[in-house]
Amino acid sequence: MDKFPYEKINGNFKGKDILSTEQFDIKSVNKLFSETRKMAIIAKNAKRSNLMQGNIITLIFYEPSSRTFGSFAAAAKQLGGQTIELTDLARFSSEAKGETFEDTIKVFEAYCDVIVIRHPSTGFVQKAAENASFVPIINAGDGIGEHPTQALADLYTIEEKFKTSNNLHIVFFGELAHYRPINSLAKLLALYPNIKISFVSPAEVVLNASTRAYLKNKKVSFQEYRNIEDVISDADVLYVTRVKKEFMSKKLYKQIQGKYTVDKKLLSKMTKKSIIMHALPRIDEISREIDDDPRAVYLKSQVRNGMYVRMALLALVTGRIP
Ligand code: CP
Repeated sequence: MDKFPYEKINGNFKGKDILSTEQFDIKSVNKLFSETRKMAIIAKNAKRSNLMQGNIITLIFYEPSSRTFGSFAAAAKQLGGQTIELTDLARFSSEAKGETFEDTIKVFEAYCDVIVIRHPSTGFVQKAAENASFVPIINAGDGIGEHPTQALADLYTIEEKFKTSNNLHIVFFGELAHYRPINSLAKLLALYPNIKISFVSPAEVVLNASTRAYLKNKKVSFQEYRNIEDVISDADVLYVTRVKKEFMSKKLYKQIQGKYTVDKKLLSKMTKKSIIMHALPRIDEISREIDDDPRAVYLKSQVRNGMYVRMALLALVTGRIP
């Protein structure tokens, strides 16, 4: 089957793997978000739907996760679907006895309608998709590569707030080198002609070369900075990142940890209409003193939207929504 490296969505999600935001055009984003708005109404009214009754979704998580795992499981259940949930595979799956992941994928596609995978190795989920013949594979985060469903939820959050994804200044702030949601979100933002992006990071953990090259190729207006004070007063969105300790040496972690914080002082320099985002988990990079500020959306709409977007995505890839 000729579906690699990335099959474009082109407004038709049915049966397609979701591996990278490079697969999306504006039409596909709009279709997903239109369905997401309907899913938000279902979930907010606690009216369980039977749209995915009879569907089984397998969640295979080789890495810890609260939101992505929990929201995919909740999304399936909100729509009447069921889940098979595999975590800690080294102990509880037959991979502990030496079974290859290729065989694991072939087995589970016989049991279900969609497989959602998180793995610490970049490119692993694409390899899984190359092995699957019958069901869509969804990337729930692969190494320092991509996290497309997080980025789709983030873009939905931005659109919900500003009623557009265009004519905005997005500031990414923190450890950028290993932070996969940024790779995926930057590629989505590149779809919009009047977006301005600023990447602010310590010198040791700047934006990775492939995302920088992608943005240059798409002629996106972006700049890189060391100092948040250079851009904060003009930011519409301040997107803060966690230091991805699990993907770096102890030495590098010690150099970066505690180097940047968002607190009340920084918040006072932001406009009233701006928002602060974070994919979470948050460690110490955002002070808890600002959690109740209306601009802080990370523990509020950004989390809820993760479930709504995943509800829409599951219904679309299974063909329950045409
Ligand atoms: N945002 C996110 O991916 O969080 P989890 O690691 O908890 O899934």
